[in-house]
Amino acid sequence: MLIRRKRGWEIAESAVTPEAAVFDRRRVLAVAGAAAAVGMAGRIGAAMAADPATPAPAGAVNLNLPADPKYPPGRALTAEGVATTYNNYYEFSESKNLWRATQKLPQRPWTVKVDGMVTKPQTLDIDTLLKTMKLEERIYRHRCVEAWAMTVPWTGFPMAALISQLQPLASAKYVVFQTAESPAMPNIGAPFYPFPYTDGLTMAEAMNELAFFTVGMYGKPLPPQNGGPFRMTTPWKYGFKQVKAIVRISFTDKQPLNFWKAINPDEYGFWANVNPGVPHPRWSQAQERLIGTSEIVPTQIYNGYGSFVAGLYAGMTHEKLFM
Ligand code: MTE
Repeated sequence: MLIRRKRGWEIAESAVTPEAAVFDRRRVLAVAGAAAAVGMAGRIGAAMAADPATPAPAGAVNLNLPADPKYPPGRALTAEGVATTYNNYYEFSESKNLWRATQKLPQRPWTVKVDGMVTKPQTLDIDTLLKTMKLEERIYRHRCVEAWAMTVPWTGFPMAALISQLQPLASAKYVVFQTAESPAMPNIGAPFYPFPYTDGLTMAEAMNELAFFTVGMYGKPLPPQNGGPFRMTTPWKYGFKQVKAIVRISFTDKQPLNFWKAINPDEYGFWANVNPGVPHPRWSQAQERLIGTSEIVPTQIYNGYGSFVAGLYAGMTHEKLFM
């Protein structure tokens, strides 16, 4: 029987400790000011000293690319120092302040197993992907189910570009992503959590132009706390769909049971599309707090990306698309 235990990120927004109380207050205010100064298309730049957690740039591969103007974020970038120190990563901690602990997760060597209903099962190496995939930058809004949000310049490549190369079978209906399990992760082995962290998409969702494999942020290699060296990003869905530190990509004809649905199917589903009109059973989803600032703004359906993705769900009235 499932024993319902309150998880850190399930706490009502009103009860979440503001990050200014968790992190050094002056630092938070300084980075928020810097972000406002550079504006939404700008970079955090030299005013923001590199976080000590950020690993060294990956050799010859340039991750600092101009943002694709097709995806204007419509709001200011979140300061790098905020986006890299306020994280959800249950393998490490239930606290948001976990970035230091994640530095122990080795980032190399890193391989990704591809299996299941696919023509070319194989093992991918992250450095080969960095060299062979055409990298680009997308500034995406990110909306956590917990009602906080950030705006981040991610570097990576469209999921569709890699999936096309892998050639899933026509019978594959879903693609499933699995996070690493490492001795560096203190919560691996804790009885309550169904690790490895797993989530998935339909093939149509994965082939949508917004679905992105991410290898960098703010023009640098993706730091471990944000899912380095390899995560996925689906900006129209709540953040829990966005699997970090991916080591396995599987193609299947069965809807996968994702991590949070396995823990609490009354509150978390497979689809998890952002919708301000469908409250979480324990809090409203109408608004979101922009981390690193004092701003609270209205949440938009599909996180504002409906023109790209609403068609994926046409006629699916029998599905719980927004939990
Ligand atoms: N991936 C793994 N492996 N473990 C996690 O706990 N948390 C998810 C998602 N991916 C999580 C994960 C949740 S709830 C959110 S909101 C985002 O990661 C947070 O990403 P960020 O820390 O880069 O902001």
